[in-house]
Amino acid sequence: MENEVFERGTWTSKLGFILAAAGSAVGLGNIWRFPYVVGENGGALFLIIYLIAIFFIGYPVMVSEMAIGRKSNKNPVGAFKALAPDTPWWLAGALGVLTGFVILSYYSVIGGWSIAYTLEALGGFPEGADFASVFGEHISNPGTVILWHGVFMAICVSIIGAGVVKGIQRAVKVLMPILFVILVFLVIRSVTLDGAGAGLEFYLAPNLGDIRLQSFTDAIAQAFFTLSLGMGAMITYGSYLSDDDNICDSAGFVLGLDTLIAILAGFAIFPAVFALGATADAGPGLTFMVLPEVFSEMPMGGFFGAVFFLLLTIAAVTSAISLLEVVVSWMVDEKGWPRKKAAAVLGTLIFFVGIPPILGYSVWSGFEFLGMDVLDTYDWFANDIFLPLGGLLTAVFAGHVWKAKNTAEEANKPKGNISVGSIFGIMIKYIVPIAIGVVMVLNIADKF
Ligand code: TRP
Repeated sequence: MENEVFERGTWTSKLGFILAAAGSAVGLGNIWRFPYVVGENGGALFLIIYLIAIFFIGYPVMVSEMAIGRKSNKNPVGAFKALAPDTPWWLAGALGVLTGFVILSYYSVIGGWSIAYTLEALGGFPEGADFASVFGEHISNPGTVILWHGVFMAICVSIIGAGVVKGIQRAVKVLMPILFVILVFLVIRSVTLDGAGAGLEFYLAPNLGDIRLQSFTDAIAQAFFTLSLGMGAMITYGSYLSDDDNICDSAGFVLGLDTLIAILAGFAIFPAVFALGATADAGPGLTFMVLPEVFSEMPMGGFFGAVFFLLLTIAAVTSAISLLEVVVSWMVDEKGWPRKKAAAVLGTLIFFVGIPPILGYSVWSGFEFLGMDVLDTYDWFANDIFLPLGGLLTAVFAGHVWKAKNTAEEANKPKGNISVGSIFGIMIKYIVPIAIGVVMVLNIADKF
């Protein structure tokens, strides 16, 4: 029974699809990536650009991906082939598969950090410790990081290989509200710290002087990353969607929930960053440096810390499986591999691809590409180039090749609370591709 969905069946309940899509969206992108990207981009002004990107670019692209998926009933490569036979459009799907490969390779590394921090928290986060150095020591020890990265990948491979995703989603329905509650507690703790005001100001009071080109790329990249867009994950999940589910409503729900959690994570992190005298632009380690300190100053902080990082790990797993599913469903549909074999072989490959970003913090610390270490380089290619390019292609495809009218018709079936029409058409045909194109070109020109 559990296999049903991924044997080209459909989600058996309305809830199935929503939970899977929300599980894919909500993950490390919200709690690990969002705060540090906001921090690097100077705070409030970036938050506004980000929200614009979510609503005006993210929403139309999400609706299009889900519609393409349901219409074609295929993995991303097959989907483009089915809707535009005998054209090179399948390459857009292939780009998605490649992107899934790259993102999952380092996503799993961060998932491994989260497992390690769960155990660390169980031992108690000692009050007064220097958590920035604790983090630095953790990531510069390749043995343990590779171990937990391997464990994280193995968990994803076994879930996808066995096709038990629906069961997982059911557990998540119970677990995610708990993550939400702890996050709210963290926010309360963080905003009531002495000196939290400066953090709130950083997060909420925009300063036009902070504007820079990179913020636009970063906002679009983060929007795609956090909503799981631009590489066909929502095409794949949409392909298991039945005609009774409303795409526009589902997309609205996923987007709202994902945005809420990201914003809360910001409220948990920034007041603490300023109150504790840390720096907002610390990069990918930000959450892992700041939250343990907040936990260490809480009664039963070790316990809450462990529960928090455990739930973060689970949220990361439900996102990672959507990345792996794209790659695996392509192998299964297009190359006829058995699901278990595809999951095991591809998972192992992805594991190895994830090792360089780990070594970048120790033996390969001399590596530099455009001023970035290995992990940031992977992240840059995936999020600043591949995802926006995938999103752009999806928009052009949905708007001009398959035609906005057909995309909207599929998305509006059956009628839900939200429906898309002419504004959607204008967005997906012109605004989304042009906005992404301009931002990408300017950004690349600026880098080289
Ligand atoms: N959205 C997930 C997160 O925020 C990560 C993710 C899952 C993803 N599937 C994706 C990112 C597909 C890009 C594309 O943690």
